Amino acid sequence: MARQVPAGLSSDAEVRSLAASSLVKLFDSLYEGAVVIDQAGRITWINDKYKALIGWNGSEAIEGRLIEDVLPNSRLRHVVETGHADLLDVLTVGGRQMVVSRIPLHGEAGNVIGALGVILYDRLQALRPIVSKFQQMQTDLATVRKQLASGRQAKYRISQFVGASRLAAETKEQARRAAEREGAVLLLGETGTGKELLAHAIHAASRRAEGPLVSINAAAIPEALLEAELFGVEPGAYTGAGTKSRSGKFLLADGGTLFLDEVGDMPLALQPKLLRVLQEGEVEPVGGNQLRAVNVRVIAATSRDLKAMIEAGSFRADLYYRLNVLPIRLPPLRERSEDVSMLCETLLEQIAEQGGEASRTLAADGLARLAAYGWPGNVRELRNVLEQAVAQSDNRRLAGADFPMLPEVVEVIQRLVDAEPDTVNSGVRPLREAVAVAERAEILRALEATGWVKLHAARLLGISRAQLYEKLAILGIVSEEADT
Ligand SMILES: Nc1ncnc2c1ncn2[C@@H]1O[C@H](COP(=O)(O)OP(=O)(O)OP(=O)(O)O)[C@@H](O)[C@H]1O
Ligand SMILES: [Mg+2]
Repeated sequence: MARQVPAGLSSDAEVRSLAASSLVKLFDSLYEGAVVIDQAGRITWINDKYKALIGWNGSEAIEGRLIEDVLPNSRLRHVVETGHADLLDVLTVGGRQMVVSRIPLHGEAGNVIGALGVILYDRLQALRPIVSKFQQMQTDLATVRKQLASGRQAKYRISQFVGASRLAAETKEQARRAAEREGAVLLLGETGTGKELLAHAIHAASRRAEGPLVSINAAAIPEALLEAELFGVEPGAYTGAGTKSRSGKFLLADGGTLFLDEVGDMPLALQPKLLRVLQEGEVEPVGGNQLRAVNVRVIAATSRDLKAMIEAGSFRADLYYRLNVLPIRLPPLRERSEDVSMLCETLLEQIAEQGGEASRTLAADGLARLAAYGWPGNVRELRNVLEQAVAQSDNRRLAGADFPMLPEVVEVIQRLVDAEPDTVNSGVRPLREAVAVAERAEILRALEATGWVKLHAARLLGISRAQLYEKLAILGIVSEEADT
């Protein structure tokens, strides 16, 4: 069937060209401003109203300049790059909000050769209430986003893991290496050894630091809710699930890190689903049948013996191997008692800062009492003990007597000497360990006997003062006190 061309018009091309020139005239008269850029983002045409609006004084040519040089907020280049029109948007020009439209311009071959931007501002006064509402919502959104982001940022850096002992240095080195890699991290250690601290620090040192850090504690959430918390919920998944979908922690952590604390408490029934996310990188919300791809790195932590749990059938071996890609063991404080002094210094500073008073220090016998103790609650317990001592004592230098909650050094010595050797090994303990225990006990006994005058203690022990200092450092009974 022949095309119907209205009278006076001869061809398709003519129709199009006439339509185009009419539209340009229309834009010129109808809108507050109109601008055209080419493929390279250079202004090829701009009307006088637009020039007036941006205060262009006319002395220099505006054509040929990059659009961003003239309008820093412009999104016209984006339209050229994507080929997608923005039919309604708000652009800020010189502090004024304008309603704008952006349309890609196509060449003969259908390729994008430029873009047209028009300002609809003055003709559409009626939009003002909508624009101001939009602005308010943008401001609110920015505030909420900021709040959310600050809750999803790392609170610690690797440098904040205090300790110079060999074990602490090794732990920090492992954390640095884990930060450079992408596999799952498994933090293993007793309560209070710094697992949470290290999880934050690894995220902060990793390529994902700009992404979110989301935490979830498997032991703190009732089993019935844990699945929804982790994987999210689709509308109407269960009675009371509501009509909106809710993102799970995995989705919230997309592009970042999920800290899965107390992973040993993960219910057996949920473990296969967790394994699937780790293997496939896909989550399946509760009540949904669609999988969603996520890009999340998992850092898991536990104080439980996962291997024993596998034996007992309460933890899946396949999940364990998936989590155990980069295992890091956090040493208990009693294995690195030479760090007690340094830790006390940092913790006492933190405590002083909180209380708004000058930092306390430790006297030699105070430090000895702390270093001799076994610290089942590790750094957390050390912090609590220091807090109590600061609250209960007025001494600027905390002495042994300021720690009545801890066993006396002599009691510790007795315990060390009496310690039941490892019965598994038929009463025999490694010679090195036995010697270290005896040495430590003897040194502490000498110090007690001489009132902590190290010169006298060294003489009693038949070693030089320098040798005594060396041993004190190794045994963790160091002090910053002047030579006594
Ligand atoms: N090496 C360290 N240097 C400085 N502070 C530390 C260190 N290790 C732990 N802490 C502090 O001790 C407290 C307990 O640490 P954290 O919460 O990381 O331990 P955790 O291993 O997660 O314990 P739990 O298993 O009980 O959850 C925190 O206040 C933390 O800042
Ligand atoms: Mg913890």
